[in-house]
This record gives sequence, C-alpha cells and structure tokens, in this order.
Amino acid sequence: MNAEGAGPGSRLEVVSTVEALRARLRGEASVVLVPTMGNLHAGHLALVAEARRHGSCVVASIFVNRLQFEPGGDFDRYPRTLERDCELLAAAGCHVVFAPGESELYPEPQEIRLAPPKAAEQLCGEFRPGHFEGVVTVVAKLFNIVAPHTAVFGRKDYQQLFVIRTLVRQMNYPVRIVGVDTVREPDGLAMSSRNGYLSSEERTKAVRLGRELRAVKAAIESGRRDHEALCEIATANLTAAGWRVDYVALRNQSGLAVPGPADRDLVVLGAAWLGRTRLIDNLEIRA
Ligand code: PAJ
Repeated sequence: MNAEGAGPGSRLEVVSTVEALRARLRGEASVVLVPTMGNLHAGHLALVAEARRHGSCVVASIFVNRLQFEPGGDFDRYPRTLERDCELLAAAGCHVVFAPGESELYPEPQEIRLAPPKAAEQLCGEFRPGHFEGVVTVVAKLFNIVAPHTAVFGRKDYQQLFVIRTLVRQMNYPVRIVGVDTVREPDGLAMSSRNGYLSSEERTKAVRLGRELRAVKAAIESGRRDHEALCEIATANLTAAGWRVDYVALRNQSGLAVPGPADRDLVVLGAAWLGRTRLIDNLEIRA
C-alpha cells in the first residue's frame, strides 16, 4: 500500500513484517519511532509532527498489543481502522507504517517479558494487572525491531511515559524519549481512541474528569496543601455525577511518588469509568 505524503515527493510505505521493515530502514540515518495502537486521532498526529522535528525518517507502529490488556479488557472491541490511519499518517508526513499482525510480533508465546518498575504497581498498574508488563515488553520489542534514535510518547499516558523513561535508563536503550503534551477536544476532553466507546450522553459527561483535575490543580496553585482532601473531593464529585472512580491522586513528577513537603513539580492523575469506558487524564502542577 502506498499513499501520498504531505511533504514534497514523500510517500507513506506500509510494511507488516519485521524483515521488510529492517530492509526498508537499512541505510536510514535518522529514524524516529511513534508507537501506537491505531485508531488515530489528533493526539497521535501531534506525536508524528513532533517526530518529524527529530529525524528524517518517521516510523509509526500500529499494533493492538494483546499483552497489555487485562483479562476481560477491551482487546476484542478495540477499534481497528488501519486504512484510515494510513491516510492520516500520510497527510501528517509520516514515512513508514509498521503494522504487524499478531503472529508477526508474537510468533510463539511471549515467555520472556520485562518486569516494570515499582512505580508501575500503583495508579493504573493497581487497577490493570499485567498492563505495564505488556507495555514495556512490546515497546522493548519495537525498539529492537525499529532501532530508532528517538521515540515519541504522549503525556496523556503519564505513567506509561514514566515507565518507558525508566525502561530506557535501566536497560540502556540508545533511544531518546520525547514527551508531547495532551491534545484535547475543544471542550477539554483529552483525545483518546476509547472516547469512541462513549454514548452521546456519556460524551457530554466526559469533560467532568478533566474539570475535576483542573480544580485540584487550581487549589494547589493557590496554596492549598491538603492533597488527600482535594483528591477525595474530586472523587466524590465524579462519583456523584455517575462515574466509577479508580483513582484521583497527586504524585511528584520526578518519581511518581506521593509528594513530600519539598516537592514542587507535581502531577494530578485520574482514572475513572463512565459506563463501560475507562478514561484517564492528568495535569502537571507547579506547587
Ligand atoms: P495508544 O493509546 O494508541 O497511544 C499511542 C501514543 O499516543 C501514546 O504515546 C499516547 O500517550 C499518545 N496519545 C494518546 N492520546 C493522546 C493525546 N490526546 N494527546 C497526546 N498524545 C496522546 O499508548 C499506547 O497506544 C500503547 O500503550 C503503546 C505505547 C503503543 C504500546 O502498545
């Protein structure tokens, strides 16, 4: 499959095997990777735009990674929209799409897996057992397959970005990790492939998560230090509005640990369910 790219004379190449990808990338001086699970939106495309600033060959991977879905999760119904994704990537100036089938990335049971760091046991890790093990394992495989010098991830998945920075440091991957700010809908909802699961009534309610996090941020920036009470209020407000809250929590940016009095660079993170849809969001805070 070929599609016209945005840049002059650029073409998007779609490859589905490790061998074809390695052949295509041989001789490329400067490869930047944008890992995704597809069903792309403007958030993903912002990562591609950032990636273009860091190298001459942007590779986007599209792979719905079974390993990172918890039992009973939405693996089967996760939207798969490869053709449209490729059109968007071509228009965004991506050079290569790596879209392997499951048997290409996991031709045999993936017995060797990487254990995520301690910071992955809390927050989303507490509610999605095995999730970060699946993420670090597939990202490590992608780094080995693509061998990028830079990889771009969204701050929307704040804990994931933290875990991947730890993966790179502790496993000595020669990959620079670049984070990109969360892209939002006009009403403030963080863009997500899972927003498509929402009914129109839920979609209207969905802005509430970000609004509660903004309230926590504003309170802390105005000097309040009763973090737990602020998170409890946000949780109570969401619960009263019909959400099922996994967590609303404050952490420091440096270690994703519960902040001490000396911590100034903080982040408030939330994860909550509207019906069958789990949404996450976060905001950085300078206390
Ligand atoms: P996926 O959810 O498809 O997200 C791919 C990348 O897009 C991630 O780095 C994510 O943080 C970023 N992203 C998603 N929504 C965003 C938004 N609204 N603004 C900015 N960036 C956004 O995250 C994954 O896939 C997977 O876990 C993956 C890393 C590909 C491993 O399977």
